[in-house]
Amino acid sequence: MGNMITEALSMGWMAMALLVGILIYFQVSITDPAAKKRATFKTFIGIIAAFLLFFAIANYKNNFYGENRLLPFSLVMITATSFVMAMYFTNLGALLKIGGVMFFVAAFLSGYGNWLPQVEGGFPPKEEKLDFSAMTPQQLADEGEKIIFGGIGKSTVQGEIGKGQCPLCHGFQKGFLSERAPNLFGIPERAEKERLTDPRYHKGEPDKRDTVEKESCPGCGTGTTVQEYIAESHSCPNCYVVAGFGLKGSNDRESQMPKIHKPPISLSLPELAAVDTWLYVREGKEPPSYEEIIKTYEKFIPEADRPKQQEDKPAGPASVLLADGSEPVDQIFAKAQCMVCHTIPGIPGALGTQGPKLEEGTNAPNRIKDPAYKGTAHSTPEYIMESVVSPSTYVVKGFPDNLMPKVFGQKLSAGALKKIVDYLSQVKAGAPPPKIS
Ligand code: HEC
Ligand code: HEC
Repeated sequence: MGNMITEALSMGWMAMALLVGILIYFQVSITDPAAKKRATFKTFIGIIAAFLLFFAIANYKNNFYGENRLLPFSLVMITATSFVMAMYFTNLGALLKIGGVMFFVAAFLSGYGNWLPQVEGGFPPKEEKLDFSAMTPQQLADEGEKIIFGGIGKSTVQGEIGKGQCPLCHGFQKGFLSERAPNLFGIPERAEKERLTDPRYHKGEPDKRDTVEKESCPGCGTGTTVQEYIAESHSCPNCYVVAGFGLKGSNDRESQMPKIHKPPISLSLPELAAVDTWLYVREGKEPPSYEEIIKTYEKFIPEADRPKQQEDKPAGPASVLLADGSEPVDQIFAKAQCMVCHTIPGIPGALGTQGPKLEEGTNAPNRIKDPAYKGTAHSTPEYIMESVVSPSTYVVKGFPDNLMPKVFGQKLSAGALKKIVDYLSQVKAGAPPPKIS
């Protein structure tokens, strides 16, 4: 910036010196007193013109590329200069006047162009609000697919994941790997034929349930219809745990699934309605109406616990990052669900056992030394990064391949990955855990 200005200034000075030189040369070459008087006047005007030109040139770059609201002034100055110069170079007068007029028109137009939108810009841009309640079932299902998978049509691509985060645990297509949680293909039918009739579900009799949480809220009761079963599954995963999918060691009394209306996922009721509608529509089943679905959630989620509607923030790709890196590292681990599978010293609640305990300050050097290690990492941070973005590069002995999601390279910002790597590098077996930052 400073450079540009000094450049423009020296250009201006040079042009001015040249002009003044020419003017003085004209003047001294005149001897007739009357002519001399006119020449003095002309010199005076000429110097003013030179000043104008100088200003125009000095501001030229700024006015064109910077805050170009001043562009019209530059052009007006050049216009004035052209007219003044037409007084001197009478043989070029007509040409200079035409040029001047053109500059004036340009100044007028650019002034018009510059000032007009500024006035219009005063009005806030119209925001398109998504009104889920006014959508057709297919439109609502599309929004649901976006919330679960991050985009329309992404449900058939393994590894796609949206703000609902369900695919971190659930498979949705027949045959998709789904070891951590039930595959949700066919859920409407299964809810009716297997879940609601399962003696362990205790339909209508929550008190008889042998789970850590028997009811979603005091007096909520149990689900009685397919849609209520689904709504209850989302709002109170602990109320009934599908056999074999409970938290390790809980004897299926406690679920690994987070409450979907609570942080970090925090889906609003309309968003949950969209998710559910997709579950029916994609199987060719007729979904309950939007209002009916909302009612089922109102049964299980008391008003105070309902997250604010976030419909004006569409669930597009921008919002599908699990963590953007601005969060402290413990929240990043929570948001990305790492703690469901891993025990991470120093991180409250990170007690998972499906993956190794993440003492990477100790583990990583040993992994790299393992003759079976075929990755490219040469240091602890490199190994952690590789393990997170490409978990199958090296599979820790005693743990299954393909269980850890392969989406973190796309779903965590560079900043979030760096915080994870920094933290885990400092975790050493037998040493106090590092500080959370
Ligand atoms: C951290 C892993 C995890 C996430 C994330 C998760 N779930 Fe689950 N979900 C589970 C587990 C484990 C179960 C089985 C245990 C239970 O019944 O609570 C389950 C059960 C369910 C059931 C009942 C399934 C059945 O066969 O009866 C539904 C429906 C469901 N989840 C929907 C969802 C939806 C929709 C999302 C995303 C908005 C989601 N889940 C996110 C782990 C998860
Ligand atoms: C669904 C369960 C699951 C989730 C969620 C998960 N992991 Fe893993 N992780 C595993 C399993 C299983 C392994 C061991 C197999 C392997 O190496 O791929 C593993 C391995 C690792 C390793 C290598 C450990 C070592 O000692 O060599 C690191 C590091 C790691 N995970 C970090 C993370 C982070 C960070 C997250 C969250 C962003 C995460 N994991 C989420 C299951 C999971």
